[in-house]
Amino acid sequence: MQFFLDGSDIEKIKKFSDLGLIDGVTTNPSIILKSGKNMIEVISELASIVSGSISAEVSALDSEKMVEEGIKLSQIAENVTVKLPITWDGLEACNSLSQKGISVNMTLCFSASQALLAAKSGAEYVSPFIGRLDDLNLDGADLISDIKLIYSNYNFSTKVLAASIRTINHVKQCALLGADVATIPIDIFEKLVKHPLTDSGLSQFTADWEKTGQSIL
Ligand code: E4P
Repeated sequence: MQFFLDGSDIEKIKKFSDLGLIDGVTTNPSIILKSGKNMIEVISELASIVSGSISAEVSALDSEKMVEEGIKLSQIAENVTVKLPITWDGLEACNSLSQKGISVNMTLCFSASQALLAAKSGAEYVSPFIGRLDDLNLDGADLISDIKLIYSNYNFSTKVLAASIRTINHVKQCALLGADVATIPIDIFEKLVKHPLTDSGLSQFTADWEKTGQSIL
């Protein structure tokens, strides 16, 4: 499973990218608002740090403007993926941008039928929002598994990019279900390595090693 970071904190994204762990980044209008920065500058900076896909979302709601914005965003860097909402206009724009060879991520996916439409429109990625479904007491993981099955039934190459991840358990569920990508908020990504037994075990080993009086180097 590929790891994308869902955010725009350049310093932290660079840190994890330098560890060789990050395959891409996703942004959305709320993330850009939170950054307080100009979107074009944010995307351009992210694209220079991470060589994988950087999702940049259009703001237009009609397909013609979406295509115009999508072309402009795709020209920021060659690894930019244009993010479009799953609406009829979004699907039309997806079809048009995909035919021009521009990578598209269809976002705000909440049903298997929407994911089917995204794949048939040539999207490179579809983003099911699992956390927002769980918030409504629905099962986001079920949606991932339905989409995976449907895509495999018909050999669609569209990748399932699990989004709206809220917990470490969501990351595990995505991996168990074979999501191609999980886009993870930076604070959740930071927690992936943590386990109290790792911390206590390491403290004990460190203390015992000091008592041996030995040195490896
Ligand atoms: C990423 O592509 C999505 O925009 C993001 O994961 C949404 O997350 P949220 O539901 O926590 O806002």
